[in-house]
Amino acid sequence: MNGKVYVVGNFKGGVGKTKTVTMLAYEAATYLKERILVIDMDPQGNATRVLAKTGNLDNISKSITDGFRNGNLTDEIVHVMDNLDMIPANTSFRNLSKILFDKYPDNEIAQISYLKELIEPFKNSYDRIYIDVPPTISDYSDNAMIAADYCIIVLQTQELSLDGAQTYIAYMQFLSENYNAHLQVVGIIPMMLRQGGRVDTRVLDQAREMYGSNVIDTIVNYQERLKVYDVEGVHMNTNANGKVEMWDGKAHQIFIDVLNELNDHEAYLENI
Ligand SMILES: Nc1ncnc2c1ncn2[C@@H]1O[C@H](COP(=O)(O)OP(=O)(O)OP(=O)(O)O)[C@@H](O)[C@H]1O
Ligand SMILES: [Mg+2]
Repeated sequence: MNGKVYVVGNFKGGVGKTKTVTMLAYEAATYLKERILVIDMDPQGNATRVLAKTGNLDNISKSITDGFRNGNLTDEIVHVMDNLDMIPANTSFRNLSKILFDKYPDNEIAQISYLKELIEPFKNSYDRIYIDVPPTISDYSDNAMIAADYCIIVLQTQELSLDGAQTYIAYMQFLSENYNAHLQVVGIIPMMLRQGGRVDTRVLDQAREMYGSNVIDTIVNYQERLKVYDVEGVHMNTNANGKVEMWDGKAHQIFIDVLNELNDHEAYLENI
């Protein structure tokens, strides 16, 4: 196995990063039946909460913080469901900078490369590793970017602004040039988070002009069901006839489409 590592990014809060991580992980585990690991690098622990509900887990005692302190993430893996594991985060991870500084005083490269080092053994046991990060330029995003092979950018289509995404891509290039980062953008996902909103075609056209076919064709529309998954966990219920319930079907189909498109992009990038 040669697992690939993905970071879902944008330096803007609340654009759908965690939604994208949890849904892509779920689709890859269920629809593609691949072995998936989600690493929560956000002390808010949003991905952790969603996946805990998804797997009906309570009282999670493991945490990425302990793994970073002990220099071993393997003991912090929590099984969520078939094919899907996670490394959970909670507010104890707010002191990441201090942990890194204590481990590697005066060695900035070692500090931001620590996650990469810790996840190296997982590439033999998982097909994909998705990293969820907070929307800041910080030790969290630096560690995730250095560790990742690919970056998935989430673009909010209603904000008349590419700012957060542009800053993210520029920063990614900075890390590649100045530090040992090798990640490439595998796709930019247009996301709509507000009900009744319309896709801002100007932003989308602008994004396509700047980033060409990196912007995927699928637009993730607003779906109430995607919000419900925050509270209930991700699920796919079937009705009395054994068919997938309609709103679950729609919510999952959109992210299966995203996953397929990203896979096509990745195959293309691997071959050039
Ligand atoms: N397509 C969608 N339809 C409806 N609601 C959505 C959709 N995508 C995301 N949301 C909701 O929007 C909110 C923000 O999404 P999310 O938490 O994924 O953003 P984020 O970028 O991870 O935020 P943060 O920067 O705080 O980590 C959540 O309540 C989520 O359920
Ligand atoms: Mg988030």
